[in-house]
Amino acid sequence: IALKQSIKNLDSYTHVRGESLYVDDVNIRQGTFHGVVFDSPKAHGKIKHIDYSKAEALEGVERIFTYKDVPGENQIGGIIPDEPLFAEDDVHFWGMPIALIVAESEFIARKARGLIEIEIEDLPVITTSKEAKAKGSFINAPRSFSLGDAEKGFNDCEYIFEGETFSNGQEHLYIEAQGAYAEPLENGNIKITSSTQGPTAVQKTVAQVLGVAMHKIEVDVTRLGGGFGGKEDQATPWAVMAALAAYHLNQSVKLILNRHDDLRMTGKRHPYESTYKIGLSKDLKILAYQAEFLQNSGAAADLSPAIAERTLFHATNSYFVPNVETTVISCKTHLPPNTAFRGFGGPQGMFVIESAIAKAANEIGVSPRQIQEANLLDENNSFSYGQIAKKVEAKNTWNSAKSIFNSEDLEKEIEDFNATNSNFKKGLAFMPITFGISFTNTPMNHARALVHIYLDGSVGISTAAVEMGQGVNTKMMQIAAQVFSIPIEKTKIETTNTTRVANTSPSAASSTADLNGKATLKACNALLGRLKTVASEDLNTSEDNIELKDEFVYVNNKKSELSWTELISKTMLKRVALTENAHYATPEIHFDKTKEKGHPFAYHVYGTAIITTTVDCTRGTYEFDSVKIVHDYGKSMSEGIDLGQVEGALIQGIGWMTMEEIAYNEDGRLLSNALSTYKVPDIFSVPKNVEVIPVETEGNDMAILKSKAVGEPPLMYGIGAYFALQNAIKAFNPNYDLKFHAPMTPEKVLMSLYSK
Ligand code: MTE
Ligand code: MOS
Repeated sequence: IALKQSIKNLDSYTHVRGESLYVDDVNIRQGTFHGVVFDSPKAHGKIKHIDYSKAEALEGVERIFTYKDVPGENQIGGIIPDEPLFAEDDVHFWGMPIALIVAESEFIARKARGLIEIEIEDLPVITTSKEAKAKGSFINAPRSFSLGDAEKGFNDCEYIFEGETFSNGQEHLYIEAQGAYAEPLENGNIKITSSTQGPTAVQKTVAQVLGVAMHKIEVDVTRLGGGFGGKEDQATPWAVMAALAAYHLNQSVKLILNRHDDLRMTGKRHPYESTYKIGLSKDLKILAYQAEFLQNSGAAADLSPAIAERTLFHATNSYFVPNVETTVISCKTHLPPNTAFRGFGGPQGMFVIESAIAKAANEIGVSPRQIQEANLLDENNSFSYGQIAKKVEAKNTWNSAKSIFNSEDLEKEIEDFNATNSNFKKGLAFMPITFGISFTNTPMNHARALVHIYLDGSVGISTAAVEMGQGVNTKMMQIAAQVFSIPIEKTKIETTNTTRVANTSPSAASSTADLNGKATLKACNALLGRLKTVASEDLNTSEDNIELKDEFVYVNNKKSELSWTELISKTMLKRVALTENAHYATPEIHFDKTKEKGHPFAYHVYGTAIITTTVDCTRGTYEFDSVKIVHDYGKSMSEGIDLGQVEGALIQGIGWMTMEEIAYNEDGRLLSNALSTYKVPDIFSVPKNVEVIPVETEGNDMAILKSKAVGEPPLMYGIGAYFALQNAIKAFNPNYDLKFHAPMTPEKVLMSLYSK
């Protein structure tokens, strides 16, 4: 089908015209109230006293809601019920919601917030995972994956190295901040427009907090101005608060966080403090690897247990290690609950083994590339969680990257440059990636699609997929257009709505297109079957001879008189259903948590990046000269969209590793609370040259139309940026003792250049 080359993300047309609709654009009912959240000004303490009287007395303030106004459960924890919607007696993080102020305007509500008086008795604050571990403050029990026998493995090693690493959190910085609009309908029904990746999670939590049945709550999502994992779980509280106020006031309530409130109140990527031990043979084979990951989970579980699990799944990245012992500990601290962020704990795990390899290479006196290359995953290798690697592209992407981009010449050029320049140094790093596709929680891997063909032959598709910029809507329409062989303009994707598609998993784990696409494909194929029956009756031939092509029925490859639209009218006259609802659940996958073994992933995505950088050794500043990637798309169904995903994810990964620095003070207050104090990659920090070459692979039948998931994996190419910088620093300062403490900001680069 010729669609794939020509297809653009169809949202881009409304985006560039400024016509795309977000929560803040919904038409609001006359008399709608506006909410502002009153949050804790301390990270940990006992609430002694709150005086709302001045705020309540302010003209235009309608009402202030607290936990006392919750008719159902004051509880929003998704995996573990450990997170109240509103604080009751204690506060656990700076920014924890205490009350919702509802007023005629946001301005008035905000002003009222300043009039609330609160007295909190301080309790000790924990901000780091190490401190939490020392004090025994945990979210749940640790998890461990193991393969072979690490202790025995180390006995056979020529080299053994140990060390520690740190990777900081990361702010999602979706352009559209968190928000929701709740509208009370008749009979206590409430409709919520939300900027969420998980409409069902919002619906379920609203029902639980209000103590009403889920069918009373309808959640609708048009699109997100970015989610990046930050709206998988953490879009929920704002929607619940708006719904709670709408429920009590019987009036619409709009609640949209401003950027400051969003930065302060929401969780981020988890910071990790980790230790590792790596053992290698004389010929650089990694024989044993041990790691302990301390995850800074924040004040409540949120998605931390699931994220911790993915750290273990990806702890050995693209390498086969016969003896592995990895443990992750979710540490409870007094930061906002940290949450999903593109890669979902995978990047944190991968950073540690890359650090261990860099350390080993430095000590042994070889290039990290040699160790990486000697250990790449091969067909039928076992991952530590028991899945056997199949259709492995680790070596293929690695070797392709080397040859397509002439990496030996590139390394030589860098050596020559470094030999002849004293003030500037260049560095290069390889970064292979391997990422498993599926929710690691097997029961979540399902989706549904509802497809209508209307009387005039136009098609409407509803799925559970949430469009957040990743282009999933376009992919869904492509599937219908392809099955029916009609122009994509004849298809339409509807909003994501819990009354049309119920009980859904969030749009996450890079699996949205696979799960919802397979359901859409199933529904369209079922309709196609019925249409073929009608056509065969009409044209007096067998169904097997019928094909739909370019809006006409073909019989034995010959175009008939019967057009798509006529076929649809005939189907209707025959009283055959033009609607289909299909359910898809990923086959084959399973995982046994009691043994920590199974086959959790439908397939893996592979790739290799080569990153080069130039460091200004007087200033500590740097640029990334090039990032050259060979990426395994399978057989991409939308090359433009998929390329956009790789580029965007790469830059986000580089940002995490090199410039985005979240800072809390020891009292647990967020210091990097604005874009003046939190640096994200801008157009100037984008590598000067980014090349992405699709590797020719078989694709995988578990991927939609053999087009592999693409959302998260390329973020991890950005990890290579850290090691390219390390290598440049080393070229300037041979005494530099490698440190693995991300992000590698210009300040840290400068200090490393002159460290002894
Ligand atoms: N791309 C854009 N433009 N905006 C986003 O919010 N989220 C990422 C990724 N790409 C995101 C994005 C994350 S965290 C995930 S899990 C996937 O998209 C989700 O979409 P998919 O399952 O369709 O890949
Ligand atoms: Mo993505 S972190 O799975 O929303």
